[in-house]
Amino acid sequence: MNDIINQLDTKRARAALGGGQKRIDAQHAKGKLTARERIELLLDEGTFEEWDMFKEHRCVDFGMADEHVPGDGVVIGYGTINGRMVFVFSQDFTVFGGALSEAHAEKICKVMDKAIQVGAPIIGINDSGGARIQEGVAALGGYAEVFQRNVMASGVIPQISMIMGPCAGGAVYSPAMTDFIFMVKDSSYMFVTGPEVVKTVTHEEVTAEELGGAVTHTTRSGVADRAFENDVDALQMMRRFFNYMPLNNKANPPARPTDDPADRLDYSLDTLVPDSANKPYDIKELILKMVDDADFFELQPDHAKNIIVGFARMEGDAVGIVANQPMVLAGCLDIKSSIKAARFVRFCDAFNIPVITLVDVPGFMPGTAQEYGGIIKHGAKLLYAYAECTVPKVTLITRKAYGGAYDVMASKHLRGDVNFAWPSAEIAVMGPKGAVEIIFRDEKNDPVKVAAREAEYKAKFANPFVAGARGFIDDVIMPHETRKRICRSLAMLKNKKIENPWRKHGNIPL
Ligand code: COA
Repeated sequence: MNDIINQLDTKRARAALGGGQKRIDAQHAKGKLTARERIELLLDEGTFEEWDMFKEHRCVDFGMADEHVPGDGVVIGYGTINGRMVFVFSQDFTVFGGALSEAHAEKICKVMDKAIQVGAPIIGINDSGGARIQEGVAALGGYAEVFQRNVMASGVIPQISMIMGPCAGGAVYSPAMTDFIFMVKDSSYMFVTGPEVVKTVTHEEVTAEELGGAVTHTTRSGVADRAFENDVDALQMMRRFFNYMPLNNKANPPARPTDDPADRLDYSLDTLVPDSANKPYDIKELILKMVDDADFFELQPDHAKNIIVGFARMEGDAVGIVANQPMVLAGCLDIKSSIKAARFVRFCDAFNIPVITLVDVPGFMPGTAQEYGGIIKHGAKLLYAYAECTVPKVTLITRKAYGGAYDVMASKHLRGDVNFAWPSAEIAVMGPKGAVEIIFRDEKNDPVKVAAREAEYKAKFANPFVAGARGFIDDVIMPHETRKRICRSLAMLKNKKIENPWRKHGNIPL
């Protein structure tokens, strides 16, 4: 018996070493942690239950018959984060460059299947050279097995990807189908084809970092949601982020008790909106003053900055926040911001997280770049997302709500549950200047008449009361009581239940 116990210990120690000390040192030299070190930091201490530590590949080609490393380049299992269940897989770059074999894929599928069955989120840590080249189509098939499960898990359990090394070729499509992607600066990259292929095909010279690094994907492409300085930072932030995730689509969003009173008033908000309609202000100030403990976890903070999305809590319960940002492009909706917000709203809707929408939007962005880029279709995504959304929706118009953008931003007409406006709200088809230029075109050369018409239009629409008179706004509230009124609304909506008609699935404009 002792012999077997010793054997087990030896086997475990061998598996834990992955590709060996030399490769572990090389991994550390790049500023990266190993697959197991990452899991240790991610999960609550001592909670990790590992599976398939001894699993090996079955390839016999290209010298692989004699090359076996127990675990085959990926560590899988489950544990807890702040006491809540989560499944993980963590690719081990020290073993065949973390390349995905058929057996490696089977391991990932095993935890994905179980996560779906028990209703717990899955976090995938990606650090891999892609499909195991020696295995050919067996490895490619392995990827597709993972992709299929990503799709089956979508909207059922939260799926989160951490990119902590290479992730190239077909490998990018598993993270791409997960709900959130976190990257590490300077040590991770994602691209469909690498710099060499790019050079051959398009003659562009670009480094891996420029092509698909964390900064690229969190600023230009919007593929990733956050970029962090190093592995430790990323893993700690993931633990924080996980606290906002419900376990599955039937569970309530997690609550965290707070000492921040739900009826806290903030008089500084009464002067947040400047007197001049064209002067910007920072909507983030409102978010921080409204939510519990000024704690806001923003997603994609450097991409499509004209809209802000992220998680916070109100009276302890997780909420999703969508807010136009007047500081950037005057808060206009454009292609990127519509896509960014649409995806966020759909996540919240799939996972029972109420959505608070803060509106200050002068409309959709004009111009050929937007029209040729398909703003019609992309703007429609946000409209569609809000319209199909059945979770509690509380909307507050702080200033402008013009044109089609008024409709889109969780208006009453899209089943907004509680729609508030500050007294500074202006709800109209467009701003007074543009309106007068069109409806009083004949008077355009008479500045006195134009000024009088603008004043007339402003008096009529540059306030929330016309919308209030129709019931499109449930109440006009003082800025200082925003938190109190929204907390009350959310408490009232806690047991809200509405259902959309049965269908196989909708056809969101993609
Ligand atoms: N299949 C099999 N083995 C792979 C692999 C793959 N896809 N990718 C990397 N490896 C192996 C390497 O052969 C090397 O093995 P060794 O330590 O025994 O020499 C080890 O993993 C580390 O790779 P290395 O190239 O030394 O690391 P690097 O940090 O310099 O480069 C990559 C990392 C990912 C850029 C590079 O390995 C690469 O280009 N891999 C191939 C990517 C690819 O085309 N994948 C298939 C398409 S999905």
